[in-house]
Amino acid sequence: MLLPAGLLIGLLCLNRVGSAWGFARLLDDVELRSAFSVARTSSMEGGPKMTVTFDSVYVNIGGDFDAKSGLFRCRIPGAYYFSFTVGKFPHKDLSVMLMKNRNEVQAIVYEENAGEERKVQSQSVMLQLEFGDTVWLRLHGDPRYALYSNTGHYTTFNGYLVYPDVYGYQTHHLHHHDNQATDHVRPGMTDGEKESAFSVGRTQSIVGVNQLGMPQHQPVSFDTAFVNIGEDFNVTEGVFTCRIPGAYYFSFNVGKMPQKTLSVKLMKNRLEVQAMIYDDSQGEKALQSQSLMLSLKPGDTVWLYSHQRDGFGAYSNHAKYITFTGFLVYPQFPAAATTNTATSQSYADKKP
Ligand SMILES: *[C@@H]1O[C@H](CO)[C@@H](O)[C@H](O)[C@H]1NC(C)=O
Repeated sequence: MLLPAGLLIGLLCLNRVGSAWGFARLLDDVELRSAFSVARTSSMEGGPKMTVTFDSVYVNIGGDFDAKSGLFRCRIPGAYYFSFTVGKFPHKDLSVMLMKNRNEVQAIVYEENAGEERKVQSQSVMLQLEFGDTVWLRLHGDPRYALYSNTGHYTTFNGYLVYPDVYGYQTHHLHHHDNQATDHVRPGMTDGEKESAFSVGRTQSIVGVNQLGMPQHQPVSFDTAFVNIGEDFNVTEGVFTCRIPGAYYFSFNVGKMPQKTLSVKLMKNRLEVQAMIYDDSQGEKALQSQSLMLSLKPGDTVWLYSHQRDGFGAYSNHAKYITFTGFLVYPQFPAAATTNTATSQSYADKKP
């Protein structure tokens, strides 16, 4: 599928900052929509055909998801939020990866537990996609692995466009005649004042130790950034600092380490616990998920804390069991943000 000609011409016209915003909003309403939500009503065993396909379509706005092939194909460049839940088949292990294009692993759902129980595991990340990128779920090809579903729809897959990349498209494809347009906060441009999103992954486990005299309550740090719009998340520090006041959605997923208790908390500012993940079962590697919305003001910080004592821990590896995502859903003062540049500048200056 190609971008409609009208949209392409529109994007070219966005070069001039002045009238860009109104036009972008117009596109927002009619052209810049993409969302899917699908379910699978049967189980699937690991084999040569590893792409998870779907037979029940709830939502497919823009028609970008092909349920039969199991592929989402990006039509509108931008930042997308994806989440999926898969059922564990009795007496089988579970391993399902979120893939980008042919073979780029983004994140995983995993449970190493050939027990007879049925249960579900969930994962979510935000991805920055270019036109034509595909996103799909891959079941491990070994018959030791399987996913479970039935007419109860254990296995589901969702994605939607959060921020269309109108200005990014312009930056990549047109001449830079205005270097400021590529800054984190684009002066005079409203998208920089309405958009904030991060999605990060960690490829290393966390092992709690009794640490006398060591710094307490260190945030969980990350080594992979899928998305960091506005650069509001410091990846090495593991801290999100609010620049734009408003309502934010956060989700996080953490792997359980064998023989360790999993206890990971979503913190606000110094030590205000907002939500947590907990698992003290004897089980092997598995995932736990949590999500919520928070109302934030400029300078508020949000971060994850993993209990730092012997006996606690969280599992990850290169497939990224540990992920953390957050994005601005509604700015608090949209009218002020578009008319009062001084106010929005002061938020921008507040960035550490
Ligand atoms: C992230 O935080 C560290 C430690 O506070 C700091 O040294 C670094 O400059 C920060 N990175 C960015 C991109 O702000």
